[in-house]
Amino acid sequence: MERIPDKLPAHIAVIMDGNGRWATARNLPRTAGHRAGADAVRIIVGECAKIGIGYLTLYAFSSENWARPRAEISALFGLLVEFLGKETPRLVEQNIKLNVIGDIAALPAPSRLALGHAMTRTASGSRMVLNLALNYGGRDEILRAARALVRDGLKPDQITGQSLAERLYTAGQPDPDLLIRTSGEKRLSNFLLWQCAYSELYFTRVLWPDFDAQRLHKALQAYAARKRRFGGTEEAIIPEA
Ligand code: FPP
Repeated sequence: MERIPDKLPAHIAVIMDGNGRWATARNLPRTAGHRAGADAVRIIVGECAKIGIGYLTLYAFSSENWARPRAEISALFGLLVEFLGKETPRLVEQNIKLNVIGDIAALPAPSRLALGHAMTRTASGSRMVLNLALNYGGRDEILRAARALVRDGLKPDQITGQSLAERLYTAGQPDPDLLIRTSGEKRLSNFLLWQCAYSELYFTRVLWPDFDAQRLHKALQAYAARKRRFGGTEEAIIPEA
């Protein structure tokens, strides 16, 4: 049993990187890496809900991922549909609410359908919110919020951090306290650019398919040992959005 630190993040965001390398190292096609990655998603979602994380945001498909080979893209969305079919009953059981962040209008129809179904079935989940970032880009999200501010007729002095944040996909949710990126890359890759302004960043060389409950707990221990200052001198100072 892992010891759960007293100081847990309310919101964890994860850049799940390294599926392709995991597969290549085993002489397997990249899609086998994504399949193993989906297993890791199931494990980490369950563990986060179990220990009391309120929000978990997973970067499943970025707006830049369309540049990948067509076969890989369709395998990824096929996997998503399969995952939702299998996991939705478990999400309901675990009292987890599924939410999508990103521009889902551009997703293949079967994925949109499966997501709509899973979101409806999990709508009353109150233990944890699972945000799946799909066709998501951080700059695009901020641009959309800026357009919404104009569309809603706000005057320049009514445009505040709060009024902008209310127009992001994550409206009403706390910002991530901890951002994890696997596979040794140390970049944000256009993920939650606004929301991660003060997040603690945790990078590990472990490839996403190998990221398990034990690795998650290691990240949580590292987070618990960090002193958060939010630009001030004391932990208590949280800047206005
Ligand atoms: C990065 O690995 C991973 C992705 C682009 C997709 C993430 C998808 C999954 C974890 C599986 C499906 C998800 C769900 C929710 C069912 P990479 O391909 O960039 O790896 P590489 O950098 O080693 O090539």
